[in-house]
Amino acid sequence: MFKINENYLKLPGSYLFSTIAKKVAAFSEAHPDKEIIRLGIGDVTLPLAPAVIGRLHSAVDEMADQNTFKGYAPDLGYDFLRETIAENDYAARGCQISADEIFVSDGAKSDSGNIGDIFDIDNKIAVCDPVYPVYVDTNAMSGRTGTYDPATEMWSDVIYMPCTKENGFCPEIPKERPDIIYLCFPNNPTGTTITKAQLQTWVDYALKEGCVIIYDAAYEAYISSADVPHSIYECKGAEACAIEIRSFSKNAGFTGTRLGFTVVPKALKCGDVSLHSLWARRHGTKFNGAPYIIQAAGAAVYTEEGRKQTKEQIAYYMNNAKVIREGLVSAGYEVFGGVDAPYIWLKTPDRMKSWEFFDYLLNELQVVGTPGSGFGPSGEGYFRLTAFGSAENTIKAMERIKTGKVNG
Ligand SMILES: Cc1ncc(COP(=O)(O)O)c(C=O)c1O
Repeated sequence: MFKINENYLKLPGSYLFSTIAKKVAAFSEAHPDKEIIRLGIGDVTLPLAPAVIGRLHSAVDEMADQNTFKGYAPDLGYDFLRETIAENDYAARGCQISADEIFVSDGAKSDSGNIGDIFDIDNKIAVCDPVYPVYVDTNAMSGRTGTYDPATEMWSDVIYMPCTKENGFCPEIPKERPDIIYLCFPNNPTGTTITKAQLQTWVDYALKEGCVIIYDAAYEAYISSADVPHSIYECKGAEACAIEIRSFSKNAGFTGTRLGFTVVPKALKCGDVSLHSLWARRHGTKFNGAPYIIQAAGAAVYTEEGRKQTKEQIAYYMNNAKVIREGLVSAGYEVFGGVDAPYIWLKTPDRMKSWEFFDYLLNELQVVGTPGSGFGPSGEGYFRLTAFGSAENTIKAMERIKTGKVNG
């Protein structure tokens, strides 16, 4: 009889978004006349920028012509895209990353989940708490996280680094030494960031202790503060200890179009073995390249028009973030994030639990957000609102929260 990967059986159910959906559906059914405003999703809502759409159309036409048709894409990405990324995302920021250290993929979720393939099962991982769940769940699937305790909602072999208002949402170096450290800044779910000096502390620690940092910079395009790094390679020595994961989802609205990339510098080694060669082998064996049409559209993001248009989209979302922040502050809430990220993380009032506050917002004000406890135990007592809704709905939701009632 064949055997399954029993690690999957250890995974707790993914209750967060399904519970939210069930609660919202039950409310809608009971109150079909009430308009619900959803500020819970982490998905973009604006259409793709005209420069991207134009290039998608022309790339489709190329596929219709015998002379310009493309079959399999190069496993690691087309040079035109890798070179554009190296120049614009790295050289322009003073980072020494070459085009052949960039591996194009179908997005940051797959890369952050797949990267574990190149590491031994015996590595100990450290994650922020609260956290984007993919890092922990994918390590659990491969058997790297020990046993799950439903009471504490923690895995026995994972080092959790609490990120709360008490430490400014900046993880502290853990007492126990991890091997693989997952960091994500600007952060989902807290919407907070760390400064270059704070990130340098992590890089120095990783270099000293022989750890590798997996740095998820999916939200870097939302950074406006001068001292917040866009890439970990802005820190000295990071090319010898860090892998960086990026996405076109949030900077250019590719959530449904799918494009991302991972940087594995050649200087990153375990003994004599370069992680670059391992990831090239993994990527080339298990992935057959992102579609030409999508990579062409990705390159269009870096054109003058593309930059201008995607900046305008980000400004639109960040204006929503400002409306949410200011609305919550004027209503007396304690608010974090939302300055360099499209997420606003608020402290629930009167010591309410995250889910209690969810129920209050849904039942009384018909606003949907995400309970912080769904992202990890240290998220209890917090709540996430996102800036990805429409400007109209964002304003309307804030009116409801400020006045404590639904005005029509
Ligand atoms: C921190 C973080 N990393 C990665 C992703 C996934 O990005 P992609 O759409 O490129 O798979 C998300 C999506 O919400 C995210 O919040």
